[in-house]
Amino acid sequence: MNVKSGILWASLCFLASFFIACQKNEELIPTVSTTNQTISENTTFRTDNAIASTETIALGKALFWDPILSGKRDVACATCHHPANGYADNLDLSIGVNAVGLGTNRHFLNPNTFAFVKRNAPTILNTAFNGMDANGNVNLATAPMFWDSRVRSLEAQSVEPIKTLEEMRGNAYSEAVALDSVVARLKRIPQYQQLFQSAFGNAQSITAANMGIAIASFERTLVANNSRVDRYKAGETSALSALEIRGMNAFQTVGCASCHSGNMFSDYQLHVLSVPDNAKNAQSDAGANNTYAFRTPSLRNLRVTAPYMHSGVFQTLDDVIRFYARIAGGNSQNTNVTVRQIDPQIRNLRIGNNQAAIVAFINALSDDNFDKSVPTSVPSRLSVGGNIR
Ligand code: HEC
Ligand code: HEC
Repeated sequence: MNVKSGILWASLCFLASFFIACQKNEELIPTVSTTNQTISENTTFRTDNAIASTETIALGKALFWDPILSGKRDVACATCHHPANGYADNLDLSIGVNAVGLGTNRHFLNPNTFAFVKRNAPTILNTAFNGMDANGNVNLATAPMFWDSRVRSLEAQSVEPIKTLEEMRGNAYSEAVALDSVVARLKRIPQYQQLFQSAFGNAQSITAANMGIAIASFERTLVANNSRVDRYKAGETSALSALEIRGMNAFQTVGCASCHSGNMFSDYQLHVLSVPDNAKNAQSDAGANNTYAFRTPSLRNLRVTAPYMHSGVFQTLDDVIRFYARIAGGNSQNTNVTVRQIDPQIRNLRIGNNQAAIVAFINALSDDNFDKSVPTSVPSRLSVGGNIR
């Protein structure tokens, strides 16, 4: 393994003391003990032999940037999770198939019959830590994914967008054969034959499950957790301004930290807040199990990932805090959610005159020093990152 991924893995192990063996051998082989999970009728996905090595990371990066994973070969994971946009897309709702452009310039082609993706794209940064508990432990196999936690583990999540109509699949093939179709394409590309061979050891290893393992191992290298707040906590007292320090304390006393807790500033639990729906969606988004609950997001790196919330309806952090002041005052902001359904902890929030300080504090939780590298080409020879120019 190279030095950089060595350091990354060392810090992953150090920071999170995962339930995996963090061994620094020739190849690093974390073992996640869990039962098998079914991700489609024809693929059994195993997290118990997940392999992270320089080779799986290189393969995962190629797949992440390659639009070969999409029906019309025009959308890559990076289309909506691009380093120029903090590994998000800076749109309220994502735009996948039948579109062109990157970030806020992305728009549908004309004519168009496809809908927006119904939710805001979260950043991929630090998803290695999704599900981190109060002691800093992460169980990679059960790590919650998506705003409603409906999928567990990065490995299982990675193949979902490939099957989704508006994200990557389009009308090119049915959902049932989407993964098989993409796997068949990869098998015909010599560079993927080589990359899978060196990552997984044999020529039969081009499978959807291994694709998930490779993409997940790449995503776990995308870490941004050395913010000024972290440096301040490590003893660098000049890292924060007086306002930011006031915000850091207010964040606790106001009650934000009751849900935005721990080192990732998230309890990773589902809560009902009554965030407004996005008017671009034909239907109201009822969240996890139709309860209007959504998962507490990490508050790291928000400076580069506006707009906010599952529906992307708030453009600024000030908008978000004003929303909290309204719901704390007993006013639901979504007509489908009654005041009694809102999480009881919300009524205890006392924001007072701390808004500016809290916003300053959250901004100081961003770490701009993350991997922004863009590959010069992808194995399919298609446009790197999809139709984004
Ligand atoms: C068209 C835009 C789009 C594309 C393409 C896309 N995503 Fe996403 N991604 C999203 C949106 C929107 C969500 C949130 C969906 C939800 O919560 O229901 C999301 C959620 C995620 C999450 C969950 C993060 C978290 O903290 O819960 C991960 C991880 C992720 N995507 C990785 C990928 C990978 C890997 C690919 C390629 C195989 C990909 N995405 C392709 C828009 C996109
Ligand atoms: C009861 C738990 C809870 C409390 C208390 C709480 N939050 Fe949240 N927070 C959430 C949940 C859940 C979401 C996602 C809601 C959604 O998208 O529907 C969220 C989203 C956010 C976001 C948007 C992040 C993003 O990536 O879009 C910010 C910013 C935020 N909260 C800040 C705060 C601040 C500041 C406070 C204190 C004033 C606070 N939260 C109190 C649970 C909570």
